Amino acid sequence: MKKSSSIYIHGSHQEEQQRLSALNDFLNAGCLEKMKFERAAHILDVGSGLGQFSRAMASQLQEAGRVVGVERDPLQIQKALTKAQQAGQEGLVEFRQGDAYDLPLKDEEWGSFDMAFSRFVLEHLDQPSLAVAQMAKAIKKGGKVVLADDDHATYRLAPEPPGFTLIWTAYIRSYERVGNDPFIGRRLTSLLYENGLQPARLTSVFFGACAGENSFSFISDNLIGILEGAKELMCQEQLITPTHFEESIASIRRWQELPNAALSYSIDWAEGVKGS
Ligand SMILES: C[S@@+](CC[C@H](N)C(=O)[O-])C[C@H]1O[C@@H](n2cnc3c(N)ncnc32)[C@H](O)[C@@H]1O
Repeated sequence: MKKSSSIYIHGSHQEEQQRLSALNDFLNAGCLEKMKFERAAHILDVGSGLGQFSRAMASQLQEAGRVVGVERDPLQIQKALTKAQQAGQEGLVEFRQGDAYDLPLKDEEWGSFDMAFSRFVLEHLDQPSLAVAQMAKAIKKGGKVVLADDDHATYRLAPEPPGFTLIWTAYIRSYERVGNDPFIGRRLTSLLYENGLQPARLTSVFFGACAGENSFSFISDNLIGILEGAKELMCQEQLITPTHFEESIASIRRWQELPNAALSYSIDWAEGVKGS
């Protein structure tokens, strides 16, 4: 089985873990509302990161249910365990170190899960279909694979700040330079279908806001956070100069102060069922 050579451009340094954690605090309730599963379900969370959403799902289950989180980066697992302990939810989720391309499941676990879930992970893989194939293999007949991911072409700022197209294009290209797909959101249904799953649902989670909403500063600061996190790669790959990068960020900061600033974006969410 192929081991992952994919590059996770955000990394797991402290500021990035804080950004991801805050993103979870913000998005998890809305994502949980989208989910439909039995209270005794066995759920696999692939690329579980800091484990907050894995725990949110596990909190919905009765005793017979369980969630296994698989995460490649040991630093993320370490933080996930600390966070679980701090929340008094130690042991609620079983976190395993492993790769989405080669899931660390026991023989008897293959074909046993009711649901395999993955959020914000396929966009960071150079072979997303291989990961979906593993998820399809992990679920039982009648079970489902649920994929939630980004399509960066759908990100809009209005009135558009000068320099935004430049920096956003450079950000998108940085995904392509490491072999990942910045537009994976639109491919989710096809990825399910190509891996033998019956497409069953397509929806989205809105992740935008306008000035005047409490969430606006968080959502627009998250934008600056992801751009700053990828600055080194973007400049190293000569997708943008450091000067243009800083000018564009300053321009986004000025836009944040506008009374009519609006950020519109939605996360794609697709589900597929394994036929009998
Ligand atoms: C943006 S985070 C999302 C985490 C979590 N799913 C969430 O929604 O909060 C992406 C995670 O996928 C992990 N990851 C990247 N490539 C992976 C791979 N090949 N196998 C397993 N995990 C991977 C990263 O280490 C990171 O923790």
